[in-house]
Amino acid sequence: MQIETKIKDLIKKVGPISLSRYIEICLWDDENGYYTSNQVLGRNGDFITSPDISQVFGELIGLWSLSFYQQFINKKSLCITELGSGRGTLLKDAIRTICKVTNNKIDPVITILEKSERLMTLQKENLRNKDVKWISDIKALSIQPQIIIANEFFDALPINQYVKSNEGWHEKKVTIKNETLCFTLDNNIWVPSDSIFSDFKTGDTLEYSEQTVSIFSNICNHLIQYDGVLLVIDYGNISGLGDTLQAVNKHKFESILEKPGQSDLSSHVNFNLLREIARKKNLYVSPVIEQQKFLLELGIMERRKSLTKNVSSDKAKIVNSEINRLIDPDKMGSLFKVIAITKNKRHLEGLN
Ligand SMILES: C[S@@+](CC[C@H](N)C(=O)[O-])C[C@H]1O[C@@H](n2cnc3c(N)ncnc32)[C@H](O)[C@@H]1O
Repeated sequence: MQIETKIKDLIKKVGPISLSRYIEICLWDDENGYYTSNQVLGRNGDFITSPDISQVFGELIGLWSLSFYQQFINKKSLCITELGSGRGTLLKDAIRTICKVTNNKIDPVITILEKSERLMTLQKENLRNKDVKWISDIKALSIQPQIIIANEFFDALPINQYVKSNEGWHEKKVTIKNETLCFTLDNNIWVPSDSIFSDFKTGDTLEYSEQTVSIFSNICNHLIQYDGVLLVIDYGNISGLGDTLQAVNKHKFESILEKPGQSDLSSHVNFNLLREIARKKNLYVSPVIEQQKFLLELGIMERRKSLTKNVSSDKAKIVNSEINRLIDPDKMGSLFKVIAITKNKRHLEGLN
């Protein structure tokens, strides 16, 4: 059955549904969900992420992970976990780099938190010959210090939206009018549990992802117990304000309620909220840094130099344009933010 028909039938049965439920169905419906049934990622998919733009991205994250391990983890194994690994490109490039610079003395133990079976198949191909454990629940993370990488993961999790009136916050829901899907505001007042949501004006929109808060809080608890680090790189929003939900189909923006299941739905990550959750648990939170600054500090220009040496000018042009896309403030350089969480205050490369 078409997703639109399924959603309309559900609304007719239970009344207006929350945005998070709408997003969950659009992305993960067993039959026609966006992640379940499409080739979503990569050059031929609907959108492309940093690791699939340039190998340098995964390589630098690999070096960053190795540096953290060598400075702060007093264990035999380097355990690296990726949340939502897409095609597995970041891990492939990161692991190759770690093995290369350590002369294969360190071969990381890999865990992937993944929900899409389709993408898991691609990850298996990209990481063949590697020992990888796939988990579907963050609570199954093994009890070792983990270097946890989340690139464009939290932006893919469903959110709810709330709009402020004089009386308080009203949830924005999805309903039907004249057989067409549309938004409506719930009459009930929603009371946020977090104090960072107290400073808003009438008319403001606030986004809140229960899944993000749950997964992130579980990771914080893991860091408290077993040490390690979480590195988050994502579309960022420090104020936590505004309607940032977007639908992308074939590299173009679409309307959220049109063609449900055929577009990727994502939203900006509320870095302020992540920071507050971690701080309340007495964890160390690095400053929030723009991707451009982070990658420059990690040496992206030096890597560019070596990749463009002794190659044809056409090849050099391609490498330059891929790297520019990652660091150009008009492309991914400013919009993407980076933050790391660890147990104690530490000098974290690129994040000071
Ligand atoms: C936008 S892609 C990013 C992929 C990858 N990190 C990259 O940079 O190319 C989001 C990834 O998160 C996965 N994902 C989304 N929601 C998830 C969930 N609740 N649990 C586990 N994986 C999830 C998707 O299947 C996909 O692999």
